[in-house]
Amino acid sequence: MTKFYSLGDSESEQKRLLRQIDLYGDTRGVAFGAANRVVELGCGAGANLWIARQLSEGSYVGVDVRQGQIDAARRRTRDLGIGNAEFQLADAAETGLKAGDFDALFCRCVLIHQPDPRPIVTEAQRLLRPGGRGVFIEPDGPNHYMAPGKEALMKVFHARTHYAYGDGRGSPGAARNLYPLLVNAGFKDVTLTPHVIVATGDDADCCRAFLRHWMEIIAPVADALVAEGLITSRELKQALREAETVKPDLFICHTMWQADATR
Ligand SMILES: C[S@@+](CC[C@H](N)C(=O)[O-])C[C@H]1O[C@@H](n2cnc3c(N)ncnc32)[C@H](O)[C@@H]1O
Repeated sequence: MTKFYSLGDSESEQKRLLRQIDLYGDTRGVAFGAANRVVELGCGAGANLWIARQLSEGSYVGVDVRQGQIDAARRRTRDLGIGNAEFQLADAAETGLKAGDFDALFCRCVLIHQPDPRPIVTEAQRLLRPGGRGVFIEPDGPNHYMAPGKEALMKVFHARTHYAYGDGRGSPGAARNLYPLLVNAGFKDVTLTPHVIVATGDDADCCRAFLRHWMEIIAPVADALVAEGLITSRELKQALREAETVKPDLFICHTMWQADATR
């Protein structure tokens, strides 16, 4: 189980997760068969309930280690009038769900949070029927880029990435390591697709949405970054100013990696 999770499960974090799906757009091309039984590991607040909607003759099970996320996902399921989704409070590495019970598995932005993602991938194998399909999506945090005039913000963002995932607290390289991770766990036919998110200053609203989003990710640990000496309070204040400024030449680039694999 993840020992440290910088984002928590507050109401504001749950709302951020729901907005993130639209902002990143990385799940738009993912489709499951209408009759599939699909499990999502690390389902969070139910941002991926679009999966349950695709399963007109199938069913969805969401697993999360935090009760707050499970409660939020259940509320969202009710609000959306979805009748084929259920949830399980469990560590994704040890779900207690029946082996081979699923045609497909989805896991997004979860492996980066694990000191060792291998047990989750092994559990994914166990849950899928032979020939079942696993879809894993992870953000390439260390590759995140924005410029010009965002030097302090970049420094703070990368300090946060190190604070949250570095020195064995998580797996900052999870996105880049998806291929060996899945192959070594015995998955077959592993394919990788990059999803490159670009926002430029000519779409100021989009840039503002991204900058707000990064600051929401940084906020829970901003004081700790200063206390740990990873950034100065001056750099933090400068980063906050930079997050408020969108000029026409702004370039923001963030990459997610999607791996599709067969059990
Ligand atoms: C960044 S959120 C992503 C949520 C969701 N997958 C999405 O795309 O919006 C990560 C989620 O994984 C959950 N999580 C982290 N480690 C976990 C573990 N070992 N087992 C189950 N859930 C875990 C967290 O509680 C959180 O809800």
